Amino acid sequence: MWKCTHSISLLLLLVQLGFAAVKIVPAPAERAPSHYVFENQLSIADQTHEVVKLPNSNMVLVSQMSNSVLVKAEVDDKGIVQQLAAFRMGQNTSALHGLAHSQAFPGKVWLTLQGDNKLVLIDPKVKSVQSVPKVIKEILVPAPGNGPHYIGEYGNDLWVTLQDSSDVLRISHVNPSDYNIYRGLPRPIFVAQHPINKMFYSGQDNSDSVMKIEPKTGHVTQLKIPAKVGQTPVGMISGPRGVWFTLLGNNTKGTGTIGHINADDKITYHRLQSPLGKDAALLHLAFDSDFTKGHTLWLLSSSIVNDSALDMIIKVTFDAQWQNIQSEDIVVIPTQKSKAHRILLTPANVFATELSSSKLLSYYTA
Ligand SMILES: *[C@@H]1O[C@H](CO)[C@@H](O)[C@H](O)[C@H]1NC(C)=O
Ligand SMILES: *[C@@H]1O[C@H](CO)[C@@H](O)[C@H](O)[C@H]1NC(C)=O
Ligand SMILES: *[C@@H]1O[C@H](CO)[C@@H](O)[C@H](O)[C@H]1NC(C)=O
Repeated sequence: MWKCTHSISLLLLLVQLGFAAVKIVPAPAERAPSHYVFENQLSIADQTHEVVKLPNSNMVLVSQMSNSVLVKAEVDDKGIVQQLAAFRMGQNTSALHGLAHSQAFPGKVWLTLQGDNKLVLIDPKVKSVQSVPKVIKEILVPAPGNGPHYIGEYGNDLWVTLQDSSDVLRISHVNPSDYNIYRGLPRPIFVAQHPINKMFYSGQDNSDSVMKIEPKTGHVTQLKIPAKVGQTPVGMISGPRGVWFTLLGNNTKGTGTIGHINADDKITYHRLQSPLGKDAALLHLAFDSDFTKGHTLWLLSSSIVNDSALDMIIKVTFDAQWQNIQSEDIVVIPTQKSKAHRILLTPANVFATELSSSKLLSYYTA
């Protein structure tokens, strides 16, 4: 009996000695930054569309088209809404849609009332969310133009897509009787000016074609998107070495493809490779504000085309020549089937609007 207990104690001692032989020392604990996704709830509307952040201010403006409401929201440095107020612009049928900063009128914002066929310059009154925005200027879209969507200010001119008449409008905001209407195909969505050849381009989502406008001659050409590459050009912006656009795909399949138009109208297509990226339904895009440093393009994939398409933010890194994609990082938006709509970069965070869930998402790393 004594012998047996003795052997067991000896065994336990040996086991303990065995454990004590494992050395434990601090290990390096470097890690990549954590990602935060925060969904700000806005006032309820059927359709939440565009977002801009006012310069030198903590105010963002969001357009809700279905009820023609402008949301003014004060955000903190992480893009989290502190307080907000909502304002009906015109009637509930006026269809507030596009939003753009004015350079000519610093701090003021251009907007489109698609239902009223009007372009409006407002003072958003940034000092307080409760202050009612003030109308500074109203410009009626000249006939036969109809249904302004995108608006952008380029010097004395505004460039506007007329979604409902399938035209692109150039109109002087100094002298609105000075304008041109360029006939397009169904339906021009955005306009972007080429940083090198200075021509204007517009993607026509229902025609799988990009319209090129030479403002001096009025000459319009169509750059066809080959069916084998993809379908439905939507997002279109000026960026490094050219104009960049996304292809949304059709209602059964996203194409995970973006295009780059160089100064000679040669289009290079880039197909995403990652498992979720390759069939993504890419609606919109934005570059880092300092894209010379990071070579980063942000894409928004959206269920707007089909409920089963994922709503995602995709961070794409290019090589220094912007010729090859080097990495794809995907953040799936918490609220799926939300028809993610627009993406906006600030130095501190990424904003994305969710069309059907009345949300403004903020994504940041820390
Ligand atoms: C728009 O306003 C009209 C009249 O004020 C009202 O009858 C209608 O219900 C409103 N529609 C929506 C979608 O708010
Ligand atoms: C939708 O897109 C896919 C992939 O590009 C293509 O194979 C298919 O034919 C398209 N469907 C229609 C109806 O165009
Ligand atoms: C959406 O896409 C899925 C998968 O491709 C397809 O099965 C479904 O029919 C599509 N829905 C519609 C409404 O086209």
